[in-house]
Amino acid sequence: MPSVCVIGVQWGDEGKGKIVDFLAEKADFVVRYQGGANAGHTVVIDGQKYVFHHVPSGILNRRTKCVIANGVVIDPATLIEEMEDLEKRGVDFRNHLYISDRAHLVMPYHKLFDRFSETAASKNGMKIGTTLRGIGPCYQDKVARRGIRVCNLYDPPVLRARLRQVLSEKNVLIRKVYGEKPLHPGKIADDYLRFGRRLRPFVVDTIRLLHDATARGRQLLFEGAQGTLLSIDFGTYPFVTSSNSDACGISQGTGLPPAKIDRIIGVAKAYLTRVGEGPFPSEIKGKLASEIREKGGEYGATTGRPRRVGWLDLVGASYAVRINGINELAVTKLDVLSGQSKVPVCVAYRYRGSLVKEFPPDAAALAKCRPVLKMMKGWSEELSECRSWRELPPAARQYLRFVEDSLQTPISVVSVSHERNRTFFAE
Ligand code: IMP
Repeated sequence: MPSVCVIGVQWGDEGKGKIVDFLAEKADFVVRYQGGANAGHTVVIDGQKYVFHHVPSGILNRRTKCVIANGVVIDPATLIEEMEDLEKRGVDFRNHLYISDRAHLVMPYHKLFDRFSETAASKNGMKIGTTLRGIGPCYQDKVARRGIRVCNLYDPPVLRARLRQVLSEKNVLIRKVYGEKPLHPGKIADDYLRFGRRLRPFVVDTIRLLHDATARGRQLLFEGAQGTLLSIDFGTYPFVTSSNSDACGISQGTGLPPAKIDRIIGVAKAYLTRVGEGPFPSEIKGKLASEIREKGGEYGATTGRPRRVGWLDLVGASYAVRINGINELAVTKLDVLSGQSKVPVCVAYRYRGSLVKEFPPDAAALAKCRPVLKMMKGWSEELSECRSWRELPPAARQYLRFVEDSLQTPISVVSVSHERNRTFFAE
């Protein structure tokens, strides 16, 4: 397997964790390169459910090394909890997990400011509906050059001085603008130095590690978090996350040049979901939406929020295929559509009387787009026992062929249940 990247082509929650776990068997390294604890990647093995926020979904594969690279923003308390949970469940990740010394850290004030800005924005209808994990404020500090990185945990005087400097500004806002109690730099430094000691055995120069790995011909699997339509540059701005949750973020988030990425697999759910605010032209509401939400277990893996539900949107998906240079697709949760007599697919939008096939740059325009739906024949058979392409009912195969033709991209993997062994290669 050459170096492969797994990217969501929708608004996240496409089932990337499951696809990464499926492909991890052939990979030497699985690499997370952006986002942070806003992600919730779910893998189910023998009825046991694992939800990963930072740790790459390949961790359950004993042979695979897992890397949290420099582009990820790490909340160390959450990461340690995740590691302890894995230990309790008997997953041995010693010599398997590597954490970048350059990754930025999510600090307690980032979560506080995430809440402050969401509360302020909700008063004028501009809420993003973030996960409140401090992701946006952490990336803001990174760009503003006042972030704190993993390597700072191993130089206590630098960490303490940096925290004093950062909090001298932030505490003014916390007290005077938001009317809350200031934070104590010494207390935060003590907590973070403790986290640093716990993480120490795993912290390395991941740039070096990954370059050495490629030089030795090792197979890398890059695991995107969120999805292309949530990307800071290409998503439905401003209703997006704060990182490049697309293939364009790989080099920046790992230090590996683009030429090292051979294959890009786009993951699409057979329908569509979105969690948080923002435009969603093919959204459906009411009883049908609730039925699909329940059948698909469409509740946020990180926040538990009910996901909004809609039909597959080929306008957004083809835009994502182009942005990422997707070579092949993995389609997940096809089983959830069983029992629909017709399966609508959004093939274009109608905007101010015109037919639109390009994904608009402006969220306000997208919010006014109405979906043009093509009705596909449905199927009544349950799919969760299907183990190969041939076992799929003809209408389900036709649906997949239509998606392939419309996106001009072959479907290579199909998944029909949350269980690991119900994922197969397409023909
Ligand atoms: P943030 O990443 O917490 O700042 O949230 C920004 C937007 O991205 C919100 O709409 C979130 O619901 C969405 N989001 C962030 N992470 C995920 C994810 O892993 N899956 C789906 N949506 C996400």
